[in-house]
Amino acid sequence: AKYNVAVLGATGVVGKTMLEILAEREFPIDQVFALASARSAGDTVLFGNKQLEVLDADEFDWSQVQIAFFSAGGSVSAKYAPLAADEGCVVIDNTSEFRYEPDIPLVIPEVNPHDLANFRNRNIIANPNCSTIQMLVALAPIHKTVGISRINVSTYQSVSGTGKEAIEELASQAGQMVNGMPADAKVYPKTIAFNVLPHIDAFQDNGYTKEEMKMVWETQKILGDESVLVNPTAVRVPVMFGHAEAVHLETRDQIDAEGVKSLLREAEGIILFEDDNDYPTQLEEGSGSDDVYVGRVRNDISHPHGVNLWVVADNVRKGAALNSVQIAEVLIRDYL
Ligand code: A2P
Repeated sequence: AKYNVAVLGATGVVGKTMLEILAEREFPIDQVFALASARSAGDTVLFGNKQLEVLDADEFDWSQVQIAFFSAGGSVSAKYAPLAADEGCVVIDNTSEFRYEPDIPLVIPEVNPHDLANFRNRNIIANPNCSTIQMLVALAPIHKTVGISRINVSTYQSVSGTGKEAIEELASQAGQMVNGMPADAKVYPKTIAFNVLPHIDAFQDNGYTKEEMKMVWETQKILGDESVLVNPTAVRVPVMFGHAEAVHLETRDQIDAEGVKSLLREAEGIILFEDDNDYPTQLEEGSGSDDVYVGRVRNDISHPHGVNLWVVADNVRKGAALNSVQIAEVLIRDYL
């Protein structure tokens, strides 16, 4: 079977990559529609080597498509996802709008593909947060084997996660600063070039940011285990593409670094750096790649049930566009 597919947010960083990945993986497509706001209607975007005209989402007839990928922001999803779903279209939503609703599946194909079975509840499937996805691809095999009781994690997140304007802001601030000019900040509240900001998404009443709480809520929902405690600090760094995470685990049953390495060596979607003198980085491994890279696997010298890992992935691909397309691949293979 072939499907008619729409990408909402097709002019954005994630939307463009969704089109690229759909073409690259030869998703069985009959017709593909690129949607954005009225601002960019009439522009063109690439689908493989074909030019697609961008259409105004406001005028789109959702009954024409069976699958839609949404990545245009939470409020845009809130507006259009129910409309599309009512027309029988399955929405795979990359925003946080529906992630925490109990009847909406939140899926990482390597971790909880079975949760897709409930997709007809609302005709909406949520794609998790980028930082959660790469962390759980790496941790799920460990949780399954020995149980994880607690995760302390610090993230090092690239600006592409914020969108195309943030990529431009980092580039222009870097240019301004190397030329001795003051940096002007619009997208972020403080200068991002040559700086790091412990602030992603809105501050919450408990002092954590929303990005940090997403990692808590989503980890428990995806692993189906509310006893897994998560303590995150999410940090924006002046990197264009790729997120890194320093993950500090406490496991229920004991496992050492060698045990973790032998689990991850076999795991789906992971490339393990075995050599303790080498490590993956955002620029070298985490840009333009599909896998989750794990390195620096070592015993926690401060805790008998502790293991540390360094986890790197492309946030735009595995953290967003690729994971959404992989969800669609499981959907058409097992359910449609
Ligand atoms: P547009 O080009 O029309 O602004 P990014 O995350 O890289 O900033 O991209 C955001 C994406 O979401 C863009 O494709 C943008 O399209 C789209 N978008 C933003 N607001 C709306 C809206 N109200 N309706 C439809 N698409 C929107």
